[in-house]
Formats: sequence, structure tokens, C-alpha cells
Amino acid sequence: MIENDDPSPFPESKLTVAIIFNSKNGDYGDVLGNSEDAKAEYDSLDTVKAIESAINKGGYKTVLIEADTHFTERLKNQQIDIAFNIAEGIRGRGREAQVPAVLNFCGIPFSGSDETALSVALDKAMCKRLMSTYEIPTPGYRVMDRSDLGSDINLSFPLIIKPNAEGSSKGIPDACLAFDEVQFNEVLRRDLEIYNEPMLVEEFIEGREFTVGILGNGENTHVFSPMEIIFGKNMPSGHTIYSFEVKKDYKKYISYKCPADISKKQEQDMKDYALRAFNALGCHDFSRVDFRMNSNGDISFIEINPLPGLAPGYSDFPMLAEFSGVGYNDLVLSVLHSAIRRLNIGEGSGNL
Ligand SMILES: Nc1ncnc2c1ncn2[C@@H]1O[C@H](COP(=O)(O)OP(=O)(O)OP(=O)(O)O)[C@@H](O)[C@H]1O
Ligand SMILES: [Mg+2]
Repeated sequence: MIENDDPSPFPESKLTVAIIFNSKNGDYGDVLGNSEDAKAEYDSLDTVKAIESAINKGGYKTVLIEADTHFTERLKNQQIDIAFNIAEGIRGRGREAQVPAVLNFCGIPFSGSDETALSVALDKAMCKRLMSTYEIPTPGYRVMDRSDLGSDINLSFPLIIKPNAEGSSKGIPDACLAFDEVQFNEVLRRDLEIYNEPMLVEEFIEGREFTVGILGNGENTHVFSPMEIIFGKNMPSGHTIYSFEVKKDYKKYISYKCPADISKKQEQDMKDYALRAFNALGCHDFSRVDFRMNSNGDISFIEINPLPGLAPGYSDFPMLAEFSGVGYNDLVLSVLHSAIRRLNIGEGSGNL
């Protein structure tokens, strides 16, 4: 259940919430590599400030901790009751798990999913295998590296080629589709060169795109109505891809609709798949799940984001919540309160 003016579960709370993040301003030395979109997943300080302001308005004290190469030093000597984690981590396919793993190691409770859920979700192929066991339909795929160049593909064209473990459409430029084998090998070779990690090759689902937000835990889980990402007629590639370029300039190419113009059954199926994915991974507090729908109305799971972006006025999750009447501050506080309740923080802990 969402309470729009969700008050603190502990009104006299003196909890200190540490907002832990990776910003485009952090000190990362040379660990991020040099692709153009190396910091694409990182937050702006404006987003961090917006989250801080929402948490302060909820009556909590805050400290800000950048999870850059000095993270563990910054963490020392801080009095933290709970961390509000939005950090993306710094390297490897398990990078989103790094901050939760350190927090767990130090015994600091945190909002959002744990390191296992975040690692599996970030490895898209691993996650798709898990989704299949839960009968959640997902496009045909293969994971390919250099040794697969020129080999049989055994999938139906067109194909989309994307890094297996990235987010924010990093590595999904407009030119990520292949319509034949020649083009496929060109794109695969180029991407392996740039990203130096296995690529997920997936059957491209022509058609409509939706995203579903989830908030809460257990009996108090709320699944928002699917929000449609409606592609304009002027897509830079001529194809309906919510690519890196398109996300950067979304006002030019995209409009959003919620509730979407779909049947009750399609809406229910999408919400059921989203919740099933959330539970299959053991996610906590919030997540966003992306879907495509082909011309027959069949729904395919594309990915789950257990750490969805929270940039106000930009990210899909605050946007879809807003459509359902949940403003930005309420959304942030609902995530925090879900975590506080789940973790029983404050009750007899001596923190209040
Ligand atoms: N199999 C597919 N069929 C059709 N479109 C796809 C497919 N896979 C990806 N896309 C398009 O590419 C976009 C980005 O893909 P995906 O969601 O996997 O990447 P991401 O970088 O993890 O995104 P996010 O910003 O949500 O973290 C999708 O929103 C969709 O428009
Ligand atoms: Mg996505």
C-alpha cells in the first residue's frame, strides 16, 4: 500500500540516513575505462540532493557518502542507522553488489535489494535463465564473445546486440541492431572492442515498450500500472529503441502514457510477470521491470532493474509513480520506510 503522505513509521525518529551514491563528480582514478558513456549510470549531484531533501522532509538526518575509490575510508567514523543505497559500484558485472556487500560486511542496514539480487539482475543472461524457470517469457538469446565471431547464430533476425552487464542503455547506441549475418558480425566485433565484455545477442521484439514499477515488500507490495514508452516518428535510427542517445534527449523522441492503452488482461499479465520477477530475485523495497509487446500482443520480459534511476524529471521510476499520484518525495520516503519496516530498525535498537 502506498500512503501518499506516508509519515515516518517512527515520528520522533532521530535516525541518521547515509545516502550512498556514485556521482559523475566522484574520484574514480582510471578504473572506469575510457568508453564515452563510462559514467552513464552515475547520478548527478542534483539527484543526490533531491533524495536528501525528500529524506530530510521526512524528519531524518542525512549524511552523503560518495562510493568512489575512497568509499571505505569515508564510511569509517560515520554514525549511520541506515543507508539509502543508490550506488552503482565501480567495476565488473557484480559492481552494483559492491556497496551492499561492504555495508553487510560492516553490519550497516541498507535500503533496496541485496548484493545477490543486484548481481544476478545486472547479468542479463543469468537473469533471463532465472526468469525462464519462473515461466516469464523473454526473447531468444545467446551470450557471445570473440570466439563466437562468424559462428552460427541460430536466432531470428533482427537481433539486438547489447553488453550483457550494463544499464542506462550503456552500450545500446542507435546502431545496435543487425538485420543479417554480415551486419551482425560487424556490430558484435565493434562492441566487443569497446566494452571488452560478453555481449547479449537477443531477438529484437518489434512493437511497443512498457515499464512497471514495484514498491514495498511482502503483503505491502504495490505494483504500479505499466507506463508505456511511446516512440515518436522521428527516432534517430528509424527503429523503436530506447537507446542511450534517445534517453539523453528523451523529450525530443518519447512520450509517456500511464495508464497505458492496453487490455485489462495485458495489464494484469505484465504486473504479474513484474512481481514474479521481483520475488524470484528476492528484491527488496523497489524495482522497475521493462517489457516489450509484439504485434500479436505477446509480452516479453526485457530486464529487471532492482536499482532503478531516481533522477527527478528524467528517470522512468519517478515518472511512472507521478502518473499514479505518488510525488517524488513520497516515492523516496516510501522506499526508505519499506526498508525501515523490513529491517525493524529503531524498534528496541537504541537508535531512537
Ligand atoms: N530484445 C529486445 N527487443 C526490443 N527492444 C529491446 C530489446 N532489448 C533491448 N531493447 C531496447 O533497448 C532498450 C535498453 O535495453 P535494456 O533495458 O536491456 O538496457 P539497459 O541499459 O539495462 O536499460 P536501463 O536504462 O533500463 O537500465 C530497451 O528499453 C528497448 O528499447
Ligand atoms: Mg532497461
